Amino acid sequence: MRKIFETIKAVAFEIDNAIKTEDLGYSDGENSSGEEQLKLDVQSDLIIEKAFANVASVKALVSEEKEGVLELSTTGKYTVCYDPLDGSSLVDVNLSVGSIFGIYEGELEGKNLVASAYVVYGPRIELVIATKEGKPMLYRAVGSEFKAVGEIFMNEKGKLNASGGTQQNWSSTHKAFIDKLFNEGYRLRYSGGMVPDLHQIMLKGGGLFSYPATSDKPNGKLRQLFEVIPFALMYEQAGGEAINHQGMRLLELVPAHPHDTSPCFFGSKSEIEALRVAYGIAQ
Ligand code: AHG
Repeated sequence: MRKIFETIKAVAFEIDNAIKTEDLGYSDGENSSGEEQLKLDVQSDLIIEKAFANVASVKALVSEEKEGVLELSTTGKYTVCYDPLDGSSLVDVNLSVGSIFGIYEGELEGKNLVASAYVVYGPRIELVIATKEGKPMLYRAVGSEFKAVGEIFMNEKGKLNASGGTQQNWSSTHKAFIDKLFNEGYRLRYSGGMVPDLHQIMLKGGGLFSYPATSDKPNGKLRQLFEVIPFALMYEQAGGEAINHQGMRLLELVPAHPHDTSPCFFGSKSEIEALRVAYGIAQ
């Protein structure tokens, strides 16, 4: 596992360099969700694929930018599922973006996630790694190395509220819940990049991030294997919770296909409890 984390640190610098120096145009292709791919998406994907090709413990890769599973070895133990450059459409307006990694042992489902990591490419490069033991650990790039900054703890209750999806397409239940939070004094923080948005909520102590089921996206937008499940481990280990619209822990999701999505809610305990009440899924 140490080699996997070292590889993530190395690719973070390469991708950061690509973001800062490369062409921002579109490639000729689209990903398996039918979204146009930026040249940077393709390049970030290749950087990660090339780096993991030399890691003996990695059996296979599953990328948001590739259709199927890329088998690397028959002897490796882990499958790394990753979104190489989440929020890449924000690069042209110079907002923060990120890479997300889920490391699975066995079948590709939530309960088999053994560790997760994400990198935030912002004014600084930051990396967070979570395993099933202890709190997530925050690292910051200093020169060409990552230095440990400290563990991440979420408070019981936060102040920030971030909900994705087109508001016109929210359910009346979701709209009423989000309005209620704002009426209680929560502040809006939403950049449109899940990595910086979820990072901000964790580091500022808490709050709620939602990507609900909407009328145009009944299964939400965010992908289970590369986005939802890896962040669920982060939030649970930090002292928060992560559930779907039916109250199921996101760490119990079983994707039928590598690109399946799920409605998702990540937050401190108090906001997730309020969500359960608002959605009528009280435990
Ligand atoms: P993309 O990589 O296509 O820019 O999508 C970003 C993702 C995720 O990072 C973010 O939370 C969500 O899409 C935002 O979607 P909405 O604009 O629908 O809220």
